[in-house]
Amino acid sequence: MAFRVAQISDTHLSAAHPEFTANFAHLAEHLRAVRPDLVLHTGDVSAHGELAIDDLRFARAQMDGLGLDWLAVPGNHDVGNDTVLGGATPADAARLARWRETFGMDWHRRDIPGWRVIGLDTLITTAGLPESEAQFAFLEEALATADGRRIALFQHKPLCRDRLSDTEMTYWPVLPAARRRLLDLLAGHDVAFVASGHLHQWWDRGLCDGLRQIWAPAVAFVVGDTWQERWGGKPLGYVEHVLHADGGHECRLVEPAGLDRHDIGLMPAVYGPHAPLTEHA
Ligand SMILES: [Fe+2]
Ligand SMILES: [Fe+2]
Repeated sequence: MAFRVAQISDTHLSAAHPEFTANFAHLAEHLRAVRPDLVLHTGDVSAHGELAIDDLRFARAQMDGLGLDWLAVPGNHDVGNDTVLGGATPADAARLARWRETFGMDWHRRDIPGWRVIGLDTLITTAGLPESEAQFAFLEEALATADGRRIALFQHKPLCRDRLSDTEMTYWPVLPAARRRLLDLLAGHDVAFVASGHLHQWWDRGLCDGLRQIWAPAVAFVVGDTWQERWGGKPLGYVEHVLHADGGHECRLVEPAGLDRHDIGLMPAVYGPHAPLTEHA
């Protein structure tokens, strides 16, 4: 029997941005029709949850409105960004508490036939919080007790943009030190794939340095080519993962009807003006 996970990402929901809510409504209508077994949101659920709790509450209500079983891990617009990248909204204890108040735990695991599905909060990996260490301990334990199940990892930031050995510290991937810790924990376990969001680009990369990586497109908007390089494709939609009890896995891009392909570079009222080819999403 196959288990279908709809991986949705980067919905950037806010009462202040009805155009993104409209995209979510089209997606929700589609999901209610196809009824996946689980909807898994890989972050940036909200547009400005790193600033105030209001958008997190709004986003939570939208997710509940799906009427489907769902889980979510936070993105940088939900709990703040990697502290060492600087910026005015680092992931910290107060932001994490707001997420947990509205969405519950920021990491989790779910067992389904043949698989252990693990959601990770990649934004706190470099925050130096007690919760940062607790999450690494959680992952170690979740891997050690998988008992023959294959591992499917879902997280906001991709493990790497190009190579797992990258040393660049940029806005886009998990930072090198945290990546190294995660890879050390994953080594020797049957990790089928790592699925992420944040790039607002779709790319089933296949095996990348021995680890399958899948990037989900956004629901709310793309970052146009003027402002962001193109590594994968820039549709709007979601990724359907089919997880078979015997360990088989397929995934595909799904583009529901009705989503408007907004370009955040042309919407300075949302996150401010975008300079050509700066790193911001
Ligand atoms: Fe995003
Ligand atoms: Fe993001």
